[in-house]
Amino acid sequence: MTDLPTALSLREVGPRDGLQNEAPVATEAKIELIDRLSGTGVSRIEAVSFVHPKAIPQMADADEVAARMARVAGVRYSALVPNLKGAARALDAGFDEIEVVVSASNTHNLKNLNRTTVESLDDIAAIIDLAHGRGATVQVIVSTAWGCPYEGDIPVERVVSVASTAIAHGADTLSYGDTTGMATPTRVTRLIGETRLAHADLPLNLHFHNTRGTGLANVLAALQLGVSDFDASVGGLGGCPYAPGASGNIATEELVHMVEDMGISTGVDLAALIEAAADAERIVGRKLPSQVLRAGPRTRLTPA
Ligand code: COA
Ligand code: ZN
Repeated sequence: MTDLPTALSLREVGPRDGLQNEAPVATEAKIELIDRLSGTGVSRIEAVSFVHPKAIPQMADADEVAARMARVAGVRYSALVPNLKGAARALDAGFDEIEVVVSASNTHNLKNLNRTTVESLDDIAAIIDLAHGRGATVQVIVSTAWGCPYEGDIPVERVVSVASTAIAHGADTLSYGDTTGMATPTRVTRLIGETRLAHADLPLNLHFHNTRGTGLANVLAALQLGVSDFDASVGGLGGCPYAPGASGNIATEELVHMVEDMGISTGVDLAALIEAAADAERIVGRKLPSQVLRAGPRTRLTPA
């Protein structure tokens, strides 16, 4: 356990990854959630995505959300984009950090972005040029990194090869997305290892969904290899109500609760985050899966 980091950088993705998979909520409620999260000590928030409104109607109001949300000093706000047009929209909306997604699985990329993986990687080269020209950074998220619902397991070599192309195009940082919760700790260890062999010093973010209950176990495996940057969503928001078995990201308060007790600091006020999770639950109008939201922190006392 000697390689455990002493601090984590968390990116809260509930307002984007979470809300894109919930029944649409009002613009006002999205802004309220982002602003509330900004006050929890979370240092990064993926606020919106700039996608086609027909593909993801939940994000149709991204411009308005971006214009009206508070930009609190000390918090970094970012936006996810699927293509060059999305990147231009994000830059115009004032974001200087962009995440662009490409799937390691060609079938998933075709379904998600209507492009082959190779076509998306070409688009990513243009996105990076545009963003860098305007002073913004680009993280490339390789999704379906631990498997695809259509193609099954994706060879590690293919995942690393997609990542390497993105890095050759000038990506500032890399993220691996476990889109449908197919990662397990051994697979996490293997992909991190192969990635480090190719790109020893590259900053790496990991994005886990808790679809099969392995989310925090996957985090632990990555922590033991010194990875210190994770996505999570407040309350465990997400998971399509129309797709049986789909589920959200690992819950931010569960992640904070676990790592803080391991001596790894996050800068997050857990009590404030649990309140934000309760707020998220009210906003989406359904019970969220976070167990720390239900049970409270481990030191919460029951009246004798
Ligand atoms: N935002 C808004 N409009 C966009 C857009 C974007 N990011 N990208 C393309 N469009 C518009 C084009 O301007 C064009 O409009 P027009 O018909 O009025 O000229 C139209 O969409 C078609 O453009 P095209 O490039 O052919 O897009 P497409 O139909 O192949 O769709 C995506 C591709 C990527 C835009 C669409 O699949 C998408 O938004 N996917 C997002 C999926 C997602 O967010 N998944 C979850 C997160 S991983
Ligand atoms: Zn996701």
